[in-house]
Amino acid sequence: MAGELVIRGGRVIDQTAERRADIAVGPDGRIVDVSGGIDTAGMGSGVAVLDASGCAVVPGLVDLHTHLREPGHEEAETVETGSRAAAMGGYTAVVAMPNTDPPVDSAAVVRQVLDAGIAAGLCDVHVAGAITVGRRGEGLAPLGEMAALGVRLFTDDGSGVQDERLMRRAMEYGRALDVVLAQHCEVDSLAYGGHMNEGAWSSRLGIPGIPAEAEELMVARDVALSRLTGAPVHFQHLSTAGSVGAVRAAKAAGAAVTAEATPHHFTLTDECCSSYDPLFKVNPPLRGKPDVAAIREGLADGTIDAIATDHAPHTQERKELPFDQAPPGMLGLETALALAIDQLADLPLSQIIGLLSWRPAAIAGLSGAHGGPLREGRPANLCVIDPEMTWTVDPARSSSRSRNTPFAGRVLRGKVRHTVLFGVPTVIDCEAQR
Ligand code: DOR
Repeated sequence: MAGELVIRGGRVIDQTAERRADIAVGPDGRIVDVSGGIDTAGMGSGVAVLDASGCAVVPGLVDLHTHLREPGHEEAETVETGSRAAAMGGYTAVVAMPNTDPPVDSAAVVRQVLDAGIAAGLCDVHVAGAITVGRRGEGLAPLGEMAALGVRLFTDDGSGVQDERLMRRAMEYGRALDVVLAQHCEVDSLAYGGHMNEGAWSSRLGIPGIPAEAEELMVARDVALSRLTGAPVHFQHLSTAGSVGAVRAAKAAGAAVTAEATPHHFTLTDECCSSYDPLFKVNPPLRGKPDVAAIREGLADGTIDAIATDHAPHTQERKELPFDQAPPGMLGLETALALAIDQLADLPLSQIIGLLSWRPAAIAGLSGAHGGPLREGRPANLCVIDPEMTWTVDPARSSSRSRNTPFAGRVLRGKVRHTVLFGVPTVIDCEAQR
């Protein structure tokens, strides 16, 4: 239950301004005051105070791309453990991907995941529905019945929709339903048998590669289909310079496209795979240095709208299989903000928060509750960040049920001190509250 709360002494940053201010939250979980030196004397005796001195107070982060693994793979993550990891990472909302078992391709499974999110109460869990039945790419899933439950994003993530005609139909329905089609851009026939980026490193390591073109051809195709249908398309986890260039050109030409990139794709290169450690196996694969530079440039100039985690928990047992047999994916929720602050150091903090909060909130249709602005009357979904605090990534201390982070031992700058969800602290002084 929300009680009265004051967040004191921070620098409030949102899409409207940057100012020193305290924030008072009322018992209904909404912001009641944003001003200097809020006096708690006039408030109820149970008022809680969160110290934000030296910190930035920002709208809660919003992840467009989280794998929560429930239903079906609770040994790797549950809605509850994933929600806790999200809260620890400063997130107040996540969009759960549909590649569960069974997949999220019906209203019943949507309801199940939404209910588990409400029961966990650590993050506002939203759901992306599958575009096709069973994510098999053969027939359209019942988009309308899922949209009726509030689903605003549809994707077959884990694979792309290969059939052009089917994708066109999905976009036509998407437009009519006022939802966004999100695409995992990968042409299966080109990616077939590949386990890492195709290039000098894959040749040297003897690991079959996935060419950049496997992604870029589908980006180009969906830009064309978006133009044909007038439907908005969101490109997930872009990884190549060619994709960034294609999205830049499409936006310049007025296409209704948006895009996301992950922290690992702006931080790591395919050279990491030289250890043959499956912790570096991910899909799309880690690419070359020019690709990493292009992703960073795309984030800086607005071509890429959002940083999304692609938080992909896997059990240790599966991640310890040989490189060609291990599943792709890495944890992301607890390290995304620090990697962004660390790696995108040329960008102002407000731009980084925009990429992590209000811009993804707009894409997911969540701006009514998430992503700010932080002003009177708005739901108190926010986090308090110490941008200078350094910490060491320790998988054993992760709130996720899994441990598969390639950043273990890395010293990062920027830590979430407190997270507040609809007025209720989910994290206080770097500790989860539930
Ligand atoms: O690396 C990945 N892992 N990429 C995907 O598209 C799916 C994800 C998963 O579900 O593990």
